[in-house]
Amino acid sequence: MVAAEPEGFICGSGQLLERGRGVRFTVQRQGSVTPAFVIRFEGQVHAYLNVCSHRSLELDWNEGEFFAVFGDELLCATHGARYAPASGHCVGGPCRRAGLVKLAVVEIDGGIYLDSKDDVHLAKQKE
Ligand code: FES
Repeated sequence: MVAAEPEGFICGSGQLLERGRGVRFTVQRQGSVTPAFVIRFEGQVHAYLNVCSHRSLELDWNEGEFFAVFGDELLCATHGARYAPASGHCVGGPCRRAGLVKLAVVEIDGGIYLDSKDDVHLAKQKE
């Protein structure tokens, strides 16, 4: 059995600093193109649809700015929903226990790739 290869390159590992600016990209999922982002937290990379569970708006207040001021939570700029960076679970604000949709990503040889599980494919990398 041959292991599935990672589908799409998102960015280089060096672009994601610990609790720093995230990298935005888009995915093809369930017939539509949806914004997404990847961040680094406690050394690991985590990716989510960039869709707040409160009102389906993008989270970042400036492009790529997802972390709250202390770097311990992801924050939606619109009404302040707060999410755990490693799980996407709602930890406060109007998300009311509804978390972010997590995407499978892998970090290999200095690159971060979307794993095409769950019928999610890289649509186009955002500049
Ligand atoms: S749209 Fe994100 S908190 Fe309301």
